[in-house]
Amino acid sequence: MHEAVDAWGRAPTQLLQVLRETQESLGYLPPGALERISAALGVSIARVRGVVAFYSFLYAEPQGDYRLLFSDNVTDRMRGSADRLREMSQRLWVEPGKVSEDGLVSLGRTSSVGLDDHAPGLLVNGRPVGDVDAARATLLGDLILGRVPIAEWPPELFAVADQVRRADVMLTDPIRPGEAIRAALARGEADGAGRQATLEEIKSARLLGRGGAGFTTGVKWESCSRQPVTPRVVVCNADEGEPGTFKDRLLLGRYADLVFEGMTVAAWGIGASLGFVYLRGEYRYLLDALRDTLERRRREGLLGKAICGREGFDFDVQIHVGAGSYVCGEASALVESLEGKRGIPRNRPPRLAEKGYLGLPTIVNNVESYCAAALIVLRGADEFRSRGTSRSSGTKLLSVSGDCARPGIYEYPFGVTVRQVLEDSGAAGTIAVQAGGPSGTCLGQDEFDRRIAFEDIETGGAFIVFDGSRDMFEVARHFAHFFAEESCGFCTPCRVGTSLLRNLMDKIRDGKGSQHDLNTIEELGRLLGKASHCGLGESASKPLLGTLRRFRPAYERRLGSSAVEPAFDLDGALARARRMTGRDDPGAHLGESP
Ligand SMILES: Cc1cc2nc3c(=O)[nH]c(=O)nc-3n(C[C@H](O)[C@H](O)[C@H](O)COP(=O)(O)O)c2cc1C
Ligand code: SF4
Repeated sequence: MHEAVDAWGRAPTQLLQVLRETQESLGYLPPGALERISAALGVSIARVRGVVAFYSFLYAEPQGDYRLLFSDNVTDRMRGSADRLREMSQRLWVEPGKVSEDGLVSLGRTSSVGLDDHAPGLLVNGRPVGDVDAARATLLGDLILGRVPIAEWPPELFAVADQVRRADVMLTDPIRPGEAIRAALARGEADGAGRQATLEEIKSARLLGRGGAGFTTGVKWESCSRQPVTPRVVVCNADEGEPGTFKDRLLLGRYADLVFEGMTVAAWGIGASLGFVYLRGEYRYLLDALRDTLERRRREGLLGKAICGREGFDFDVQIHVGAGSYVCGEASALVESLEGKRGIPRNRPPRLAEKGYLGLPTIVNNVESYCAAALIVLRGADEFRSRGTSRSSGTKLLSVSGDCARPGIYEYPFGVTVRQVLEDSGAAGTIAVQAGGPSGTCLGQDEFDRRIAFEDIETGGAFIVFDGSRDMFEVARHFAHFFAEESCGFCTPCRVGTSLLRNLMDKIRDGKGSQHDLNTIEELGRLLGKASHCGLGESASKPLLGTLRRFRPAYERRLGSSAVEPAFDLDGALARARRMTGRDDPGAHLGESP
């Protein structure tokens, strides 16, 4: 614990990092450690306990010497993860969610570890193992039962091959460290516009955020740069929590210089001196290499004081590691988490560009957005706009997984059709594609000529393929469980609504559903879309509504009764939410649109 406090300092903002590192050395977080951390950082013990309870990778109880965490995305299930988990559980004498009696092993599930191209995947003590077929599972069991230290396990077990199947400008021709920063400085000198020249170039390129929502990056940066308060802050969102997305894993693992280059260019543009990468806990294994790259860049004068010799251009980056919470990918929840708190999304306004990290003007962008920004500054907005469509310029990385012969990363200019991606990835007999993960769009066969572009199909990058052997009801039911699990519980419509959706889907699966339940799913979906506090709740019903529209027979053949059997009084269940939010307008009631 002392080492963690010494390394991170005594500021309350470091609480999550201190807890995480203390757990790395003790195996879990015993009550005494929590009290000492509370005293050392000057935060109440209630807040410390609240943070531990919020993050699923923080443990208040002892864990096994070997900690197996199975990835539980739909792609893992499609490749047999449930069988592997069952076999492992029997062989190691431990139930999922428990620690074995001898303390040797703990077995758990987590929503997705970002190994969909190597499904089924899992983490062993934080290290990734992909392609876990029966033979690999047996080998893992042998190593654990033989109590072989992880450091002595065959290194190929942990090798995650990044399968780049199609490369365009971002992945083919990586820039040399410092090139884009120097280009930004030179452009500002050439036209005398200084930092503004960088902002103009990003705006002119019409770069839209690659995290999924597609906000105009140049506008966000400019708004932040105009805030009178300093220091300003650049945050890289490397939470990559959307199940089915793994393209940031590639960028962080093999293109880290490009990511940091983009962040530094952003810092120049907005006049920031503080930088953070928020790395998802599942990617903890990338941390050491990322820190080495940062250290090298400091030695090369690309971070720290007077970057590239420019007096007054001071900027550095710290990496904070998350601890297993999907909602922390939402930009304001991420900033809360960076401040060492529970990741509860903030009320807006104010926007983060005005008051973000510790109340300072802050930009939060996706990993890929920073990479694109570096390319724009180096090669110019015209070159960038020469790819893609008029409204979606540049290229997009897609994480392709599921029923296809060639899963992996595909970089395409925006505007590529779904059909083209299916063809390139060797998909056959496809009945559906889930673009953008559970919170994205379910596409049926009649939509395969639609295009990946902000004006048509928006996606943060996930592209999950389903062939005719898949049951789209089960896919949607799985996603309903995902959202109920990941809802942070802060607002009642989402907390109650996601649980109700999950229960309704289970009821239908059990053959006890009725037509009334299908109607309720649709009503609840509309309500969640309108009344939720953040994007998680807004998206939670999308996979259900999408599959209901396109694959209704998959639901209807399970209905046990045509009679109306309400499982609960939905409007009554939401009455408390109305009281809490002080709303009683028609929009806060079911079936009454304003
Ligand atoms: C529940 C939820 C999870 C999100 N997860 C991520 C994520 O893992 N990575 C990401 O870049 N954006 C994520 N976002 C979007 C961010 O809130 C934000 O829009 C994005 O980081 C902005 O960067 P961009 O403009 O470069 O896309 C998430 C949003 C929501 C509502
Ligand atoms: S919508 Fe869901 S995830 Fe978002 S704040 Fe409300 S409860 Fe939390």
